[in-house]
Amino acid sequence: MTKKRVFSGIQPSGNMHLGNYLGAVKRWVERQAEKENFFCVVDLHTLTVPQDPEALRQETRSLTALLFAAGLDPDKSILFIQSHVSAHAECCWLLNCVTPLGWLERMTQYKDKAGKQESVSTGLLDYPVLMASDILLYDAHEVPVGEDQKQHVELARDIAQRFNHLFGETFVIPEPVISEAGARVMALNDPAVKMSKSEAHVRGHAVRMLDEPAEIERAFKRAVTDSGKEVRFSDDPAKAGVNNLLEIYRVITGKGKEEVEADFAHARGYGDLKKRVAEVVIEELRPIRERYNVLMQDPAALDRLLARGAEQARAVAEPKLREIQGRVGLVLPG
Ligand code: AMP
Ligand code: TRP
Repeated sequence: MTKKRVFSGIQPSGNMHLGNYLGAVKRWVERQAEKENFFCVVDLHTLTVPQDPEALRQETRSLTALLFAAGLDPDKSILFIQSHVSAHAECCWLLNCVTPLGWLERMTQYKDKAGKQESVSTGLLDYPVLMASDILLYDAHEVPVGEDQKQHVELARDIAQRFNHLFGETFVIPEPVISEAGARVMALNDPAVKMSKSEAHVRGHAVRMLDEPAEIERAFKRAVTDSGKEVRFSDDPAKAGVNNLLEIYRVITGKGKEEVEADFAHARGYGDLKKRVAEVVIEELRPIRERYNVLMQDPAALDRLLARGAEQARAVAEPKLREIQGRVGLVLPG
């Protein structure tokens, strides 16, 4: 039986945090043997808002090292940098020409981000079409993402359907795969908002992947909870802080909700809870940080891994791009 294709992407902007890890990367790692996987560090998406060039380069390398360190295995998954496979940008142009402007103007992420900026790049509006290109070039069946990216995957489906309708069956229609546990890790300093890269530098907001144990412990100690003392899962907004800590613990330990609550049945208040959640997070991240440090000390080895990933990705994306070019009426180079 042929394996289902999985495609997902992650931006090399700012610090990867526990939310990215639990909501995305950890699941990629756990499932990599079952599927045929493509994981892409989407540097072109990051350029849609202003970046410092040197910092972008540094963060792109650092993120790829972190993903390998987190357990993405080059023998099971194809991990590559988006800009190394030029078919993504070329495909984006072709899909732009069949995507109604109104579809893009409706995107929630665009409206949010555009509202926060004085000047908005064309790339920011076009972001979901590039994302659709990422996915459709690989005929991916499944796209694991956090809840916030579901709308973009649905747009990729719409674009694929429209293209198939206009030019004949070309694309697989992808499905978003949103995991329930860890789909939304909330900020430690404000459990009403999602932990986010753009706030990850704010003290107490996030646990970053490379934080030292002492910092992780401090972040959990300061985590906002409520004035009660009951340690249980709850969808009451007033208990969102405790719920978030329990969710983090649940995803890392792989336990069921009842088992998790039983673990804390004798906790003395939230202090105990915070301490034990910090412990499991520290132990989860420790080996990742160690492997990361080894990889970053050998840039040539990292380059070799990335060259191999890009080559394997091109072997799929380039023939697909030719097919798309043929469909729309381009003269293919002889
Ligand atoms: P980004 O930080 O936007 O590049 O997101 C990379 C991946 O992590 C995407 O699949 C996001 O949906 C996911 N993600 C980002 N923030 C969180 C969060 N707080 N909780 C769960 N998943 C998240
Ligand atoms: N937009 C996604 C995010 O910020 C990243 C991304 C780019 C992506 N291309 C993708 C995710 C393709 C899944 C599939 O999280």
